[in-house]
Amino acid sequence: MATAFITGSARGIGAAIALRLAEDGFDIALNDISEAMFEDNDIMEKIAAKGVKVQKFICDVSNYAQAEETVKAIKAEFGSIDVLVNNAGITRDGLMARMSEEQYDMVVAVNQKSVFNMSKFVGNVMMRQKSGRIINLASVAGVYGNPGQINYSATKAAIIGMTKTVAKELGSRGITCNAVAPGFIKTPMTDKLTDDQKNAMLGQIAMKRFGEVEDIAGVVSFLASKDAAYVTGQVIEISGGIMM
Ligand code: NAI
Repeated sequence: MATAFITGSARGIGAAIALRLAEDGFDIALNDISEAMFEDNDIMEKIAAKGVKVQKFICDVSNYAQAEETVKAIKAEFGSIDVLVNNAGITRDGLMARMSEEQYDMVVAVNQKSVFNMSKFVGNVMMRQKSGRIINLASVAGVYGNPGQINYSATKAAIIGMTKTVAKELGSRGITCNAVAPGFIKTPMTDKLTDDQKNAMLGQIAMKRFGEVEDIAGVVSFLASKDAAYVTGQVIEISGGIMM
């Protein structure tokens, strides 16, 4: 049985991706920053109900040593790691003029360094397997920029560069690396925005609705499938047409 490892998967988009990949038949390695993140939801039970193996691995993905230990533990438990979804991410929004160094550095560590950490350690496992799929969560903010998100948009643009680099470094070993760039998706992350911010966003979306987590999970499922075997180094926007 093939295994998929999804970071930051206790809730939101990560949980939806984990559930969808379980439906596709993958055994699932979940991850989040703390046990507490799994307490108010039943993602473990929902995945187990699909008849696949599921286990959670608590770690801070921005921590290099913890990332290495976690990948070792997943490999030992599941035998292989066939799909890595670098999903964990945070926002610490604010206009540049008022943004603190801490706000900037924190977002870079969690959103960007984590992608290096996990892609390196899981990539090493995949290279020995001579196969694998790495799928990164970028954002339209990394493509077009977004006021109040200099930290976040920097990390999401970086992820696009990292995706293309990993695709080039690992392609000859049968490993693909792609990114999805969501627009505005309804999750706890976007619940924090004010109604004014949400309405301004809605005006720019061609489809005149916000995205659902399943809109992201479906495209990730495709990228992890046999049908996407020859797709690599690509960034797929899933935004209802926020900009084109
Ligand atoms: P969310 O906040 O609902 O979920 C993120 C998960 O990551 C949480 O469970 C959180 O505890 C976990 N996490 C945070 N820091 C972590 C760390 N250091 N180690 C391990 N886990 C950690 O967010 P959402 O909306 O589900 O976002 C998921 C991904 O999609 C993020 O990378 C985000 O930037 C990206 N995205 C989301 C969009 C949206 O509209 N919701 C739009 C574009 C991109």
